[in-house]
Amino acid sequence: MGESGSIHMPPANSTIAGEVDALFYFIFYTAIVLFVLVMSLTAYFIIKYRRKGKRELTSGVAHNTKLEILWTVIPTILVIIVFIWGFKTYLRMHIAPNDALEIKATGQKWFWTFDYPNGANSMNDLIVPVGKPVKLLMSSQDVIHSFFVPDFRVKMDVLPNRYTITWFEALNVGEYDIFCTEYCGKGHSEMLGKVKVMSEEEYAAWLDKAAVDIPEGMSLEEAGAKLYTSKACATCHSIDGTPGVAPSFLGKFGSREKLADGSEILVDENYVRESILNPQSKVVLGFQPVMPTYQGVITDRQIDALIAYMKSLKQ
Ligand code: CUA
Repeated sequence: MGESGSIHMPPANSTIAGEVDALFYFIFYTAIVLFVLVMSLTAYFIIKYRRKGKRELTSGVAHNTKLEILWTVIPTILVIIVFIWGFKTYLRMHIAPNDALEIKATGQKWFWTFDYPNGANSMNDLIVPVGKPVKLLMSSQDVIHSFFVPDFRVKMDVLPNRYTITWFEALNVGEYDIFCTEYCGKGHSEMLGKVKVMSEEEYAAWLDKAAVDIPEGMSLEEAGAKLYTSKACATCHSIDGTPGVAPSFLGKFGSREKLADGSEILVDENYVRESILNPQSKVVLGFQPVMPTYQGVITDRQIDALIAYMKSLKQ
């Protein structure tokens, strides 16, 4: 477990947290020193230069160039230090390392959904491996939310119609609170979650099991519609008939396709399945064999769902 935290801060449990805290404490203690200095000088002068007799007047001092330079230069230097330090830390916090594990985070009233690279997803619990940078690609389904993990010193607004990014690397296995820090309606205070940091092996095991085929209560067709975007089919296959990099899904199921080798094939369940797992084996005439295989990143149930979805796209 990490350090126990302080009166100001919860325990620091991410690689960036120490840097954030250092800057915070620098500003905090500098402010205290300056506050005490200004207050005690004020008190001292009030007493020292108080009016002692009826006829006693203060001298007419209006300027002290040395003092004025001093109280301009010192704060300027402090501000420059804080700016440079803050900006460097800000960049570190906002630019995810290239090897980061990318997880999609979605905020909506009033819960979080996390989508993992293998198609697994989880709600409110964000499962991550320890000691590995994790990049969150975030967006909202409705209003503005904000993703906040105090122990990681990570906080980022989550917006509709636009992606935001944050990242962190957890230092210790454990559970850490997620809060929403943008008022988002009556359930705002209930919009709670946990980051569950696991060992690399535990994470891999969880991911395998959680590669949810079909979310509970969802029909195959609905799940297929979701997979169509989440598995990035949408990038190349339109559903409105417009040809793109690849054949449109509209009216495709049950049709006959001319293949690049001159033969013809009926688009049935087995052909769709083969095309997902082994896209290069039967390429449709007029298209480049550019589709990546989905072997290992899609389950049988998910293929069922995509097939069901394709069947629903009738011309
Ligand atoms: Cu979501 Cu507040």
